[in-house]
Amino acid sequence: MVTMTSPQPVPAQTVSALPQTAPAVPQSPSALPRYASSPPRTGVTGQAYRDLLALDAPCYVLREGTRVRTSGDQADVARVVAAGGQVLAAAGPRPATALGDGAFRAAHGVRYAYMAGAMANGIASAPMVAALARAGFLASFGAAGVLPARIDEALAAIVRDAAGAPFACNLIHSPSEAALEAATIDACLRHGVTTLEASAFVEPTAQLVRYRLAGLRRGRDGRVEATHRVVGKVSRAEVAERFLRPAPEALVRDLLAAGVVTADQAALAREVPLADDLSAEADSGGHTDRRPLTVLLPELLALAERLRREQGARHAVRVGAAGGLGTPAAVAAAFALGAAYVVTGSVNQATVEADQSAITKRLLGATGVADTAMAPSADMFELGVEVQVLRRGTLFPGRARTLYELYRAHDGVDALPADVRANLEAKVFRRSLDDVWADCVEFFTRRDPDQIIRAQGDPRRRMALIFRWYLGRSSGWSIAGEPDRAADYQVWCGPAMGAFNSWVAGTYLAEVGNRQVADVAAHLMTGAAFHERAAALRAAGARLPASATTYIPTAPLLGQG
Ligand SMILES: Cc1cc2nc3c(=O)[nH]c(=O)nc-3n(C[C@H](O)[C@H](O)[C@H](O)COP(=O)(O)O)c2cc1C
Repeated sequence: MVTMTSPQPVPAQTVSALPQTAPAVPQSPSALPRYASSPPRTGVTGQAYRDLLALDAPCYVLREGTRVRTSGDQADVARVVAAGGQVLAAAGPRPATALGDGAFRAAHGVRYAYMAGAMANGIASAPMVAALARAGFLASFGAAGVLPARIDEALAAIVRDAAGAPFACNLIHSPSEAALEAATIDACLRHGVTTLEASAFVEPTAQLVRYRLAGLRRGRDGRVEATHRVVGKVSRAEVAERFLRPAPEALVRDLLAAGVVTADQAALAREVPLADDLSAEADSGGHTDRRPLTVLLPELLALAERLRREQGARHAVRVGAAGGLGTPAAVAAAFALGAAYVVTGSVNQATVEADQSAITKRLLGATGVADTAMAPSADMFELGVEVQVLRRGTLFPGRARTLYELYRAHDGVDALPADVRANLEAKVFRRSLDDVWADCVEFFTRRDPDQIIRAQGDPRRRMALIFRWYLGRSSGWSIAGEPDRAADYQVWCGPAMGAFNSWVAGTYLAEVGNRQVADVAAHLMTGAAFHERAAALRAAGARLPASATTYIPTAPLLGQG
């Protein structure tokens, strides 16, 4: 039950603060802070960089008299020691494919403990998912906001193009549109999708449980096998707990009574947690509580471990890290905190395969770490829920916030002061609010007529639907690259995007046209393995110059596979 606060007078600054001037579209990221654009090539520093990067070999720090240098060559090390030198520190081989939890890689049939999270409206597109799957990464199709027929087409395309490699599809909880959840699950079952990325859940729903149970069977060794894997995405411990425990009995009973699952599946459901993996979502693009990863991840790791012990050790749920991962150092830090796998999002939106317009990708490529802001979300506008969006190059966050403040302050659009309404109609909606309402009626009559019925006697609800029209359209304008609406683009984005841009400044990846999604992933993981080795040497007391211990992407690691 949602309670509304009583209307307040409009603060004068709300109206005057309505952003009106279209921002200049930044053309280049030249103003970003940058790392070195190429690694050191010469001397001891260049050698140290190369030795750290030879991930399949060990890396030693040696002292020869007064000289300190690195080596990856065992014979060289033996010579130095025989001549009275010392090994000061050593780091073992660390291929990028060895990072994270091997059980994650084995369960999902991927080479890397790396997942590209869903991006709504199909921004995490079929080509993106297929490219990552072929290269050995787990990727999730951005099914939220996509009509069922298009989800079906996208899944068919991924199955066709992924060369048999596993992939995931997003199931976003839609409290007011249960039919959409059902349609997504139907499509996943039809196309044999083996992993579901479940997000925005507060409680498990029948559709989520239906998918999980439909994949349960007893293995030959007596253990329960879950052929439908669930990766839950959460930012709170209370919600995490729902995924760490078996599916709720009441839902299982209902599904059994409705003949949707078998008695065997219902019985097996008691023996396994609802999820196999849990992504701890910290300060990310889109929906986020903006918790620091260093706070959230240890909390969820501890919770998962406590529940594992309570429930018996058989089915440990792996905990991964999401949010803020845009550089190899950040990815290495997540693994150092104990993440079983890492999840990226923002950085993938500016890649070639993302279904996002060229103009928005250019904006994203010029984004710095402080160029994001929180703005009201379209799906939970009335509740005051916010999403993290781009603020550089678009007026969307300010305009959306103004709409929310007006919503809080007035009884309905007819109660808006005339000048405020005129301003909104001229600058933000660019049409009369009556026209917008007619659009809403047309849209919801097809999709969810109940919304219109509920709004008819309730002017505030009607105002919410009208304002949500703008919030809903603004993502579409960005994806389509609507030139006339550049000032209104809503682009979900977290600070990881800016961190990535600073890291790649001056390299071939600075140009968004060169960012292949699997290549970006391979660099992040290769760089993370490099940083992990540098950290091991540092922990043993070795002092290496920063330029030797910062991984720089110099050339593609993976092309279009
Ligand atoms: C444009 C965009 C759209 C997103 N849409 C969804 C979504 O529909 N469902 C979901 O579970 N997560 C969504 N996310 C979150 C990502 O899957 C991922 O968890 C998150 O972006 C990771 O944090 P980062 O942005 O700091 O990399 C979205 C993120 C972005 C940037």
